[in-house]
Amino acid sequence: MRYELQVNGVQQIVDAPPGTSLTSVLRDDLGLTATRLGCGHGSCGACYVLLDGSAVASCTMPVDEAVGHEIVTVEGLSQGGQLHPVQEAFLKEDAMQCGACTSGMLISAVALLDENPHPQEEEIREALSGHLCRCGVYGRIVKAVEEAAK
Ligand code: FES
Repeated sequence: MRYELQVNGVQQIVDAPPGTSLTSVLRDDLGLTATRLGCGHGSCGACYVLLDGSAVASCTMPVDEAVGHEIVTVEGLSQGGQLHPVQEAFLKEDAMQCGACTSGMLISAVALLDENPHPQEEEIREALSGHLCRCGVYGRIVKAVEEAAK
């Protein structure tokens, strides 16, 4: 089936079987591999993308449901060759280790700060609570989001 998607401000046409996950379409059809596939069951946060500004798991979202919505992946966060302030802050605070969780963390951090530009630490931890970091650098990630809020 043919789908029209709006991804990172660009209209994309993809052919995929109904029910194909949005993660699969983004990675395999559009080559947007910053979106990671971890658990594939909505439990780890690796695959999060922005859908109309909200952070959602793309692994459990059939591509059909993404039609008509504005999708933003990590590739779409930078503007004009400039990293997004949240990306800058992650670099500054060294808020990553293996990097498997980083894309999803960035997406949820951007969604949080768009809605709440000056979150308390508890609010940051709550916003990121759906993301697993196997390296355990949660403290540095929270610090990075606080830095980005400045
Ligand atoms: Fe989607 Fe884990 S891969 S939540």
